[in-house]
Amino acid sequence: MKENKKIYIETYGCQMNFSDSEIVASILTESGYKFTDEIISADIIFVNTCSIREHAEERVRKRLQYFKSLRKKNPDLVIGLLGCMADRTKVALMEEEHLLDLVAGPDAYRHLPELLDKVGSGQPAIDTILSFDETYADITPVRLDSNGVSAFISIMRGCENYCSYCVVPSTRGRERSRDAETIVNETRDLYQKGYREVTLLGQNVNSYKWQTAGETIDFAHLLEKIALSNPLMRIRFATSHPKDISDELLNTIARYPNLCKSIHLPVQSGSNHMLELMNRKYSREEYLERIHVIRQILPGCAISTDIIAGFCDETEEDHRQTLSLMNLVGYDAAFMFKYSERPQTLAADTLPDNVPDETKDLRLREIIDLQQKLSLSSNQKEIGKTVEILIEGVSKRSVNQYFGRTSQNKVAVFTKTTSLPGEYVHVKITGTTSATLLGEIIDFRE
Ligand code: 5AD
Ligand code: SF4
Repeated sequence: MKENKKIYIETYGCQMNFSDSEIVASILTESGYKFTDEIISADIIFVNTCSIREHAEERVRKRLQYFKSLRKKNPDLVIGLLGCMADRTKVALMEEEHLLDLVAGPDAYRHLPELLDKVGSGQPAIDTILSFDETYADITPVRLDSNGVSAFISIMRGCENYCSYCVVPSTRGRERSRDAETIVNETRDLYQKGYREVTLLGQNVNSYKWQTAGETIDFAHLLEKIALSNPLMRIRFATSHPKDISDELLNTIARYPNLCKSIHLPVQSGSNHMLELMNRKYSREEYLERIHVIRQILPGCAISTDIIAGFCDETEEDHRQTLSLMNLVGYDAAFMFKYSERPQTLAADTLPDNVPDETKDLRLREIIDLQQKLSLSSNQKEIGKTVEILIEGVSKRSVNQYFGRTSQNKVAVFTKTTSLPGEYVHVKITGTTSATLLGEIIDFRE
């Protein structure tokens, strides 16, 4: 029976969620299911969901209505909800709105084969229990939507920072690190399959820790092990928390050319009052001190960030502080959001969501406009330089062009030559937009 069942999986949210979908694909392929890219031919539809902002949840609800409409043609269609929305919405979506046959939280994916069996037998198929130790360390992900060059690897799960706005500690549970040896082995295996770039994922990779009989491996140590075992593999990571990005880590990144010179360091706000209400555990001054040290140890390193506009009690002056910090740092890139109150967070329980929506919109607009200028000026600094690019594939705009990334995570497009995706080339940068560098290949390296 199972051998003929086809699963379609749609993923929302962060890279961690995309990585989880690859774990789901691995578990279900092992137990005999097939995966399809065509929703129409699927027997089972899974949606791997995100709760970070209300908007993300609304999109999923709309998709579920559409999936439900497909039951008219295929009454046996099974619809399952995975990921961060699972625990929060199971009662409403499953019992009240009858949109779902199965619900599985982020730590329940090993049980998916049994849960699918339950759907067939009419029993409730729900598992949203969070675990203290699940890391899926032994599971080799099935790469979905892969370009064959870059891949994500989860190195830890959960989060215990309790930023007051953030739903993640409640949706993904306690922080736990994955066995270092399995991570190093996964990168080696990817290298052998032709991959040349991995991004190590965790909510706060700086607090990675793995204890073996003989040693304690922290994040800097893990990076070093991976860098040494695959010198031609580029290594990136996300996300770092500013409170614990150490000098030791920065020095490690400086030592190895394949550790990419790009750091994502979410600041969230430039105002000390906001940072305190957000429970970020650093001040504006401490954050700027870390930036100063990054610039000293890693000259030319790109720095990107996340910013929230219109958090609780945010005044115009708080907002100005964010703009001024952005100018001081001169971010190369940023992800910018307006504050969205989430249930079961410290902010929802204790702080008023009192910045009017129009004000949030205006402030976000100002932040985005400023970042566009900063990104353009950061890219303009690259013009005239010769940079090493890892070719990722053919550009969406033109079949005669390749695109790839610099170590600083800047995207560049350039005319195709005999080089292939997965190869490193030297490209002279000749022009730029705020998003993309333009260049010409001048040689290639094997
Ligand atoms: N509202 C808006 N943005 C949020 N983020 C996290 N929680 C919220 C929220 N409730 C943003 C933060 C975080 C990024 C992943 O999403 O900037 O770093
Ligand atoms: Fe990722 Fe957070 Fe969204 Fe969960 S809620 S998918 S951890 S961004």
